[in-house]
Amino acid sequence: MLIHETISGLRAARATAGRVALVPTMGNLHDGHIALMTQARAHADQVIATIFVNRLQFRPGEDFEKYPRTFAADCARMEAAGVEHLFAPGEAEMYPQPQSYHVEPPPEQAGVLDGEFRPGHFRGVATVVMKLFQIAQADVALFGKKDYQQLMVIRNMVREFAVPVEIIPGETVRAADGLALSSRNGYLSASERAEAPRLYRELTGIAAAIRDGARNYPDLEARAMNVLSMNAWAPDYVAVRKKHDLQSPSAADSGLVVLAAARLGSTRLIDNLEV
Ligand code: PAJ
Repeated sequence: MLIHETISGLRAARATAGRVALVPTMGNLHDGHIALMTQARAHADQVIATIFVNRLQFRPGEDFEKYPRTFAADCARMEAAGVEHLFAPGEAEMYPQPQSYHVEPPPEQAGVLDGEFRPGHFRGVATVVMKLFQIAQADVALFGKKDYQQLMVIRNMVREFAVPVEIIPGETVRAADGLALSSRNGYLSASERAEAPRLYRELTGIAAAIRDGARNYPDLEARAMNVLSMNAWAPDYVAVRKKHDLQSPSAADSGLVVLAAARLGSTRLIDNLEV
């Protein structure tokens, strides 16, 4: 695997790489990231993975400083997965000026759900992802459904700006007990880790109820929020939404997804499940 720290270096490598698949990450790689890289193989001659902990998408007081940085272990995992190129720029390479132009997703998409609780987050994500697209000039790019709202924002950004890249979603990879893999799981204490799968269990329960005909979405959401609160979680939201635009469904709508975000101790976890 070749490691590129500069935009010019990555561009030079990209010029002779043929069809390219891009997998952007913030590092601290787990099986969910690696699954995207393995899936990327099937779509391209060469895979470019990126590691960049993007300051723009963190709010003051969030975990930018303590976000786990495990570069050597990440490189070993990517080598084993057959990734050809890693783009790992320093902050001065990505944001030398600092960045003063931004991609501003519309509030209907970026101000709801996670965007309501993390104002500016999706602006930071859209800006860095747009920049990575310009740098890598990839034919396809892979993003996980674990970050469902992020996937939607990126898809819509690509469509509205006519970015010549195909977005391919990857299924959420979970631990055996159902907990969605996340770099932030490493923040959990042993007892919190044992409690953490409850988030997915609540989503599973709501999805099953909907499949059985339940249409009282606010009740289902409130009941799950309550269960989480009673078990020492601080839920931000549990929400039944339409898959394609993440707006609230009417009883007649199908194609739904249940999304949740909640804090367990000081760790904020998100998850979702398509119905
Ligand atoms: P990060 O959280 O490192 O995730 C990188 C990619 O891996 C994203 O597409 C994310 O959806 C996917 N991913 C994370 N956990 C997953 C899981 N359990 N199963 C499947 N895929 C999973 O998301 C980001 O970084 C950043 O916002 C980024 C897009 C890189 C922009 O900075």
